[in-house]
Amino acid sequence: MNGKFISIEGIEGAGKSTQISFIRDFLEARGKRVVVSREPGGTELGEQIRALLLAPRKTGMSEDTELLLMFAARAEHIHQIIKPSLERGDWVLCDRFVDATFAYQGGGRGIDRDRIQTISDWTLKGIQTDLTLLFDLPVAVGQSRVVKRQQQKDRFEQEKAVFFERIRNCYLQRAEMEPERIKLIDASRDIESIQDQLSTILTELLSA
Ligand code: TMP
Repeated sequence: MNGKFISIEGIEGAGKSTQISFIRDFLEARGKRVVVSREPGGTELGEQIRALLLAPRKTGMSEDTELLLMFAARAEHIHQIIKPSLERGDWVLCDRFVDATFAYQGGGRGIDRDRIQTISDWTLKGIQTDLTLLFDLPVAVGQSRVVKRQQQKDRFEQEKAVFFERIRNCYLQRAEMEPERIKLIDASRDIESIQDQLSTILTELLSA
């Protein structure tokens, strides 16, 4: 693999979208070809799976179905976009990747971590991010930002604060366990401070 793989993580309202544009511009200005994508989604089939996962439904969705659909979309994304892009030498900037599954389906829904790890090993086949940027902020702050968006809440956004507290804790634990790969960004600060930190982290990765 010649390119580098970066994922962006965090609970709802962490401000990922704004920072993704900044990161893309930063890398492109330094001569990198950047493929921006997202999960669940990123391919035609993956976007259809995303719609199934996010649509609120009266009958709900079992935890295992949710987990397997996340990995189904991911398998397609790796096959069609991530692996070929990295092999070409492009940089892949992905809004969420497998850490989201450990945080949401593991921490949030309570699915056993080892089960997720087994499916992850099987699906990822050695692909992992070179860098994961975890945008962390208090759940209440994230939720107030989501409310301001004024669009209909998706199936995840409709969950209660305790669900997001579990997700946040799981993300933070993962960042503690893998400090080299997962960099913690305090997303409650102003945009300039966040982007200063991002510049430092990205400069380090560019020279690695
Ligand atoms: P987004 O709103 O950040 O685009 O992500 C869509 C939702 O999907 C978000 O609530 C997080 C959730 N999600 C999971 O639960 N597990 C996963 O593996 C991924 C990639 C996303």
